[in-house]
Amino acid sequence: MQFSDIHIHAICGVDDGAKNEEDMFAIVDAAYADGTRLMCVTPHFNPGMFGEHSRRTKENYEILRAYVSEKYPDMELMLGNELRYASGCRNWIYDGVCNTMGGTKYILLEFSFTETSEKIIRGVESMFNSGFIPIIAHVERYSKLSIAQIRELREKGALMQVDSMSLLRDFGFKEWMRSKKLLAERLADFVSSDAHDTGSRPPELSPCYEYVKKKFGERYANAVFYENAYELFGSQKEREV
Ligand SMILES: [Fe+2]
Repeated sequence: MQFSDIHIHAICGVDDGAKNEEDMFAIVDAAYADGTRLMCVTPHFNPGMFGEHSRRTKENYEILRAYVSEKYPDMELMLGNELRYASGCRNWIYDGVCNTMGGTKYILLEFSFTETSEKIIRGVESMFNSGFIPIIAHVERYSKLSIAQIRELREKGALMQVDSMSLLRDFGFKEWMRSKKLLAERLADFVSSDAHDTGSRPPELSPCYEYVKKKFGERYANAVFYENAYELFGSQKEREV
């Protein structure tokens, strides 16, 4: 099975993911060995917590790109960010310091896990108004956002990303139940690793793929683990905004 992973903290030295080049390469090695063939690396873009590392992100991405093109020529690699929503954050994208998903109009957008549903909805709408399509990162982890509200946001065009570790119950019972509900109702568009290392938050997607295939069917598993991302970001598609 081939996988697409559109939420992964493999770029080193810019957030709480890979610490150094060795870590960065190890995460990608493990992902490739597990079957990942399309990867959008998404360091946190949250200047209040991690600082503003756009230059180092681009430099280390180039190092990773050279590594992948030599070692894994059949892997497609793209650069994005996991943007923590903040008032005026669209300017970070306009200014070119925060990256959309591989240069498309799609942006991986996260909020505080305790954020109110009203603020999440307003944030998503403001991204639409700024010309971007939000992919809501680990949507199952916002406890104040109801399943009905997620459905409404999706009907408006937002896309939903679920963490594989939520589906495997690694983030707790509530996240496990909510992630299962989202898949049962076909509200998830992508399941991604949100990997930070090769230990406690690893990039392997195959255990979760097997679980989802058994519980929700092979067709939907293939869509959320590979096809949806490939259709949006694969090389056969135009990437321009
Ligand atoms: Fe993340």
